[in-house]
Amino acid sequence: MRKPIIAGNWKMNMTPSEARKLVTELVPLVRDAACDVVVCTPAVDFAAVNEVIKGTNVKLGAENMHWEASGAFTGELSAAMLKESGVEYVILGHSERRQYFGETDATVNKRVLAAVKAGLTPIICVGEKKEDREAGYTNALVSYQTLIALSGLTADEVKRVVIAYEPVWAIGTGLTATDEQANETIGVIREAVRSVYGDAADDVRIQYGGSMKPANCKSLMAQPEIDGGLIGGASLKAEDFSKIVHFDA
Ligand code: PGA
Repeated sequence: MRKPIIAGNWKMNMTPSEARKLVTELVPLVRDAACDVVVCTPAVDFAAVNEVIKGTNVKLGAENMHWEASGAFTGELSAAMLKESGVEYVILGHSERRQYFGETDATVNKRVLAAVKAGLTPIICVGEKKEDREAGYTNALVSYQTLIALSGLTADEVKRVVIAYEPVWAIGTGLTATDEQANETIGVIREAVRSVYGDAADDVRIQYGGSMKPANCKSLMAQPEIDGGLIGGASLKAEDFSKIVHFDA
């Protein structure tokens, strides 16, 4: 049985004081969660968030990281920096990084390898654009993105990663993949993992992301292949996020 994981992706939102307020509201609402609960925050919020979540079931994640250990990479953060800041998870290859910051499958793979080596759990984002789905490329594309991202990991390492299937057309648009579409494509991703890593595929947790909210989380989470959610907009309100954590409207 895979333990579900609900992760918030705050994106470029929340100053440290706003972050402290949000997690202070969130912690008591999710205390009895049956799933893993993660908030992926801007790096400037780590200290404030850590003070509040210390000793609770809410875990800290970052939104990106660089693959090199250190050096002349202005503006970037290393795995060791994240680790020492109390970070356990890191989103990698988010479609906004791919679209606006030139992230490629190859650089996502480098980041994944560095994160796993450092003992961080990557949340690897894959997903098709609207035109890919319309052209019938979804399955090939998400399979390719997934296998490139994982390339170089052992089957045991693959078991511990989290993958987020996020159809790009559903992110921040209010459009959600239907429960069946999301379940089917996540099944395709799992079979791609199986084709290289065998039964390790049964341990990999694969989330759905893209306009997931209290009103649609219950039926998405009822799908057999969907092991959680990566939540953008709805993670910025403690009450909404906690409802998703409980898979309930
Ligand atoms: P959304 O974002 O929930 O606001 O659609 C999801 C994401 O980008 O991870």
